[in-house]
Amino acid sequence: MPDIKPKIKLAPSILSADFSRLGEQVAEASRAGADYIHVDVMDGRFVPQITIGAPVVAAIRSHTSLPLDVHLMIEHPEQQVKQFTEAGADIITVHIEACPHIHHVIEMIKEAGVKAGVALNPGTPVESLGEILPDLDLVLVMAVNPGFGGQTFIAAMLDKIVRLRAELDERDIGAELEVDGGINAEVAPRVVRAGARVLVAGTAVFRSGETVGKAVKKIRASLG
Ligand code: DX5
Ligand code: ZN
Repeated sequence: MPDIKPKIKLAPSILSADFSRLGEQVAEASRAGADYIHVDVMDGRFVPQITIGAPVVAAIRSHTSLPLDVHLMIEHPEQQVKQFTEAGADIITVHIEACPHIHHVIEMIKEAGVKAGVALNPGTPVESLGEILPDLDLVLVMAVNPGFGGQTFIAAMLDKIVRLRAELDERDIGAELEVDGGINAEVAPRVVRAGARVLVAGTAVFRSGETVGKAVKKIRASLG
């Protein structure tokens, strides 16, 4: 029997936090009832911006006991698995578009003792995961083209989420279905109805004009 009301996790993305007081903002999101802290790593190659690396993950590790959900938007992520694991990552997600040897990269992540996730850009089909789906702890559906916070949710991704949810359920695969990009209190219920279980939100949590606590509550309240 499918869950009637599955538990929905919130993963605030620190990309939209105030970097000059990152530790404080991570602690605030944790107190507000976040489930994961989502860390967006960009290399200026796979995506245009350069953001943060393993030393920053190590620095925020002591400001929360929540799992650190590290989203690698980088080329050759396999070369960084060790650094991010040692820095304190709990989940490492790589982009399938950056990994011709994705099966090997997933094995490396798991051997490092952390959970393995794979992300799909908006233009990458669900079918590209077919062979590796049973090996994954998490699938990340990008609802914007990766690279920047504050973009608008691509509504066509709802159908993709529905199809992925159906495949996970049909094949009885327990990987978490996470959605990232453009999520706010208006979009969140639609994404959850489509089948998401983990919601990433940057702008809506850290740049809402309210406190982080109120922003998190608003998203939770939208889920009924
Ligand atoms: C985009 C990042 C997202 C981003 C989400 O490339 O992967 O995690 O921070 O930010 P919002 O919620 O503002 O779309
Ligand atoms: Zn992300």
